[in-house]
Formats: sequence, structure tokens, C-alpha cells
Amino acid sequence: MKLYISTLLNLSALLSISLANGRMDIRFTHHVEGKWSFPLPKEEANAVFYLSEDKSLYIGGEDILYHFNFEIMKNYTIKADFYNCLGKPHCKNYLTFVGQLLGNLTLCGTNAQKAGCWVMNNENVHKLEDHWTELLAPRTPAMNYNILITGNQVYSTVPRKSNNAVSVMKTFRKIYGNLPLLYTGHTLWRDPEFVKSLVVEKEDKVQSKILLFFTENNIETRTVEKRLTMVAQMCKNEVGSMKADTRNIFSTALKSHIICGNQLSGQYYPHLQDIYYLQGKTGNVIYGLFKNSWNHSAVCSYEVEAIESLFNTSSLFGSSKKDLKVRPGTCHPTLTPEETSEEASRYPELTNWLWPSRNRTVFQNLNNFQKIVVDEITAVNQKTYRVFILATDFGTVHKTVELEDGVFDIPEVRPFKQKGRLQFMELKPNEHVLYMGTTREISRLPLDDCAAFYPSCKDCIQSRDPFCGWIEGKCESVLKFNSSFMVQQNLKQNATCELKKESTTMYLKENRHTINNKEVKEMVEELGILSHKFMEPNTATKIRCIWLLILTIQLLILM
Ligand SMILES: *[C@@H]1O[C@H](CO)[C@@H](O)[C@H](O)[C@H]1NC(C)=O
Ligand SMILES: *[C@@H]1O[C@H](CO)[C@@H](O)[C@H](O)[C@H]1NC(C)=O
Ligand SMILES: *[C@@H]1O[C@H](CO)[C@@H](O)[C@H](O)[C@H]1NC(C)=O
Ligand SMILES: *[C@@H]1O[C@H](CO)[C@@H](O)[C@H](O)[C@H]1NC(C)=O
Ligand SMILES: *[C@@H]1O[C@H](CO)[C@@H](O)[C@H](O)[C@H]1NC(C)=O
Repeated sequence: MKLYISTLLNLSALLSISLANGRMDIRFTHHVEGKWSFPLPKEEANAVFYLSEDKSLYIGGEDILYHFNFEIMKNYTIKADFYNCLGKPHCKNYLTFVGQLLGNLTLCGTNAQKAGCWVMNNENVHKLEDHWTELLAPRTPAMNYNILITGNQVYSTVPRKSNNAVSVMKTFRKIYGNLPLLYTGHTLWRDPEFVKSLVVEKEDKVQSKILLFFTENNIETRTVEKRLTMVAQMCKNEVGSMKADTRNIFSTALKSHIICGNQLSGQYYPHLQDIYYLQGKTGNVIYGLFKNSWNHSAVCSYEVEAIESLFNTSSLFGSSKKDLKVRPGTCHPTLTPEETSEEASRYPELTNWLWPSRNRTVFQNLNNFQKIVVDEITAVNQKTYRVFILATDFGTVHKTVELEDGVFDIPEVRPFKQKGRLQFMELKPNEHVLYMGTTREISRLPLDDCAAFYPSCKDCIQSRDPFCGWIEGKCESVLKFNSSFMVQQNLKQNATCELKKESTTMYLKENRHTINNKEVKEMVEELGILSHKFMEPNTATKIRCIWLLILTIQLLILM
């Protein structure tokens, strides 16, 4: 049996690779290019976006800020005010931040390599003279950096300039807010690239955490990858260390290696692309979008409680001290004892890794996705489902829904007309509207435009799209109609709509004859190819041939 499974595994891996170029996991594409999108006046290779409370979009570009309320686009010229470099390419002012800062709409830009910020008030723009605002923008737009604004506290990883040379040390630093202005020590990471930072607020403010997701160089022997995906945790309201010379260093900052993959099949996705923090009806979960070296994507979930409990319980890698009065990483309202902060600084990494929920991916896909958001929607059957929205570099949007019987792909949507790089994707959860921006276009995509997605009852019902239901001869949004009058959406697998048995269903049946071994089915699921039940006949036939081949080989081996 062991041999059987391992052979099967190898063959399945081969199968998954050989199909990597096929797009078997996508059933249809909705070409709605232009319906919800609007072009930018010119290409902005480094565009940054801000979706304001009034649902208008600000787009920061090269020497320019656009403001678009989805009817009129205005623009404001915001040139560098530092002219020592006139005539050189870096003389431009690339806007790298647009957002609310301390109650004002604020823009920050490279400002000819002398970063600066401006406040915009009733269409008037004036420069902010506060020194710390220099740390809100990098010197060049392509630099990796992370900014976290939470209430009146502002954090940044933009390096400080010292003696005209930019410090190479990347630190995460509080640059504005309640004192002390703490920063991370130099032992916490090695050449980090920041992916995302977020705040986990707790009722007991002392326990509130900052989570910082990043990749770093691997100098350990525990894994083979050159770069490791990590999460660092620190107490948001810590007040520093008792140790005089490190008083302003985060003494609660520790980190752990994050795993995304299937422990059972040993299939891993080491490279973190994006993080989404879902504060959902059924708990707080962090979703990570990862990829492997073939650029195939996977989504893994991490319960916020599990992260907290990992940091609460794991020992520190390399450390042998066990008798500290205050455990490293503990959030407490007073200064951290010297021996605790020393231990955390010397051994900042946990021994235990952060494994995904159930030690497996939520799902995986052969596409190369860049961004993820997750929505929750109450469907026709009154059950709440999570919908994963994944976008590729070119702005193609895939919806995948987590149903009782596994995850299910809903048709993809292509909102953009022109080929641009995706720069921005944000969900307005209460409205179920997705805002996106590429280097050339912006889009406001309603996730429930069912009539456009599914023209016929069959499409509507079989899509298993929890946003939609069939009523009055149309596929309509569950947000617009009282869903109890809608035709029961086929969220389970029994078709309604007075449909004859579809050919797709036939394929499903036939496949079940060949693949009735539960283990095999699970592995197929793990490899993300369960959705073959809804493929075009051609691909399905091919797969059946491949399965036949596999079964034949297995028989030979068993004999
Ligand atoms: C900015 O707006 C002005 C006036 O509406 C328009 O003439 C100009 O073309 C715009 N510039 C860009 C780069 O969009
Ligand atoms: C920012 O907004 C506050 C009010 O929220 C105002 O008092 C302050 O002057 C503004 N700052 C600037 C630089 O405009
Ligand atoms: C993966 O994608 C990156 C760009 O995102 C590309 O440079 C690289 O060549 C791709 N690798 C493979 C194996 O397709
Ligand atoms: C972690 O420890 C803190 C402080 O001791 C406690 O309040 C919290 O409930 C713990 N969390 C978990 C998930 O164990
Ligand atoms: C996941 O794997 C880790 C490491 O092997 C193990 O410690 C943990 O108990 C597993 N968790 C579950 C839910 O299986």
C-alpha cells in the first residue's frame, strides 16, 4: 500500500506539472473589460492608491495626484520642491503614499530624493514641515518599505538618512505617536522585504499586537530555501526595556517561520505574496497567498488565536534559559526586565513554526496570483460563505468559494481593457465592491453583478456563486432581493432549474467510477484538480486517459 501511494504521489506530481500550462481550473471567463473600468490619463508605472471614505479614489503618480469619484477625474500637479538635482531623472516627485494621516488627507513623495509630505485641504496643497514625515516616503519609488498607521500612531520601515548616507539597516520604527518611539533591534531580521503589517486589537489594550509579515535571508540549516517567509509579533503598547542602552528597542519583538503547504503530500509554497486579515462573522483569520517556484499559488489560513498561542508557548530557537520571570514576547504594561529583553534580542526566533490551519492549504491553483481579499456573504440558503478573490498581475480576478464539500472556482472576471500591472486591490466589505487599480486603469467591480456574470438559469444555478440566485427570469444578487424567494442556489450538488442532467454531471459520474478510492480522491483534491468535474469534455477526457495510464502502471507495480 505504501508503494502504491508513493507511486501515485509521484505520478500525481508529474500530472500536476504537465497540466501547469493548461488552464483546467477555469471554467469560463467573463469579459467585462471596460464595463467597470476607467483609464488613467497616462500610464503611472508606480501608481499608489487611496480609497477614501466617500468611495472616491485618489491615485498618486509621477508629479501628479488624480482624484476620481467615478464620474469626474481631477488632477493636481505636485512637483518636487527640492531642486538641487535639476535635469536628472530622480528629480521627479513620485508619490508613494496617499491617505489619511492624523485627520488630514496627506500625500508623500520621493520629492527628488528628499522625501516629503503635503496636506491637502479644500484642494489646497501645502507642505508638511514636520521632520518625521520624511520617513513616510522612500527615496525611490521601487524601494521596498512598509507603513502602518493605526489611530494616531505611525510606523514606518523607511530607513533614516544619516550623514548623507542612507542607513542600510532596515528597522520598523514608530515615527509618530505616544512615547516612547520604539524601533526594532538589529538582530530581529536579515535583509527583510516587507509584505504587510497589521494590528490585532484586543479588549485588554496591553495585549494588542502588531504583526509584520516579511521574507528574509535564510542562514539556518533547518530549511533549504534561500529566503524564508516570516511573521514578527510585537506588543503594540509596550513601553520598552529596563536596559538603559536598549531602552527604545522593541523588547517584545519575536518572529516565527510561516509554512504554507500540505503536510500530507509534502507539497509546499514558500514565497509569500500577500496577506489578508479577515475579521469575520466566525472568527478572525489571517489568509496568506503564497507561491512555489513554478509560480503556482496556494492560500493558507492562520487563526489569529493560533498565532497568539504559538508566540505564547514556543521556546526560543537556540536559547536554553527556561527560568526567566517574564517570558520573552509577553505583553505587559511596564518596562521589560533586562534579562528578558536580552534573551529576546539574542534569540528572536521561535523554535516552533507557524503551520497553516489543519496543516494544509485552503486551496491551490496553477495561476500566478499576486493579491488576495476575502469576503463573507450570506447566500440563498441563509448560510454564510467565504469567498476568496484572487488577482493576477494583469488584474484578472478569480472568485473561489469555500463550500461544505470543498472549495469551488467561480468564473473569472477580466475588468481591465489594457494590459497594465496590478497595483491595488481593496474590498469594501459591507458593500461587496472590489476596487482595483493597475498602472493604466482603475476599476470598481461589484462582486454581485449576477445578471452580467450569468445570463441563463443554468449558469446562475450551476455557478454555485453564493452572491447570486435565480428570480423572475434573471440571475440576481442576494443583496438586492429577499433571498428566500429565490430559486435555491445549487450550493450543494443537486441541480434545480428543471434542468436535464447535464453532460458535466455525466462526466462527474463516470469519473467517480474510476476514482472511487477515497485516498486517491483526497490526493487529487490536494493537488487542486478536483474542479475537473466542471471542465470542458476535452480536458476531462484527457484526464481520464491519464488516470487510466496511472491505474495501469499501478497495476503493473502491484503485480
Ligand atoms: C489635468 O487636468 C486638466 C484640466 O482638467 C487637463 O487639461 C489635463 O490634461 C490633465 N492632465 C493630466 C495629466 O491628466
Ligand atoms: C490637520 O487636521 C487638523 C484637524 O483634524 C488641523 O487642526 C491641522 O491644522 C491639520 N494640519 C494641517 C497641516 O493642515
Ligand atoms: C514566475 O514569475 C516571475 C514574475 O512574477 C517570473 O519572473 C518568473 O520567470 C516566473 N517563473 C516561472 C518558473 O515561470
Ligand atoms: C497568551 O498570553 C496572554 C497573556 O498571558 C493571554 O492573555 C492570552 O489569552 C494568551 N493567548 C492564548 C491564545 O493562549
Ligand atoms: C501540524 O504539524 C505540526 C508539525 O509537524 C504539528 O506539530 C502539529 O501538531 C500539526 N497540527 C495539526 C492540526 O495536525
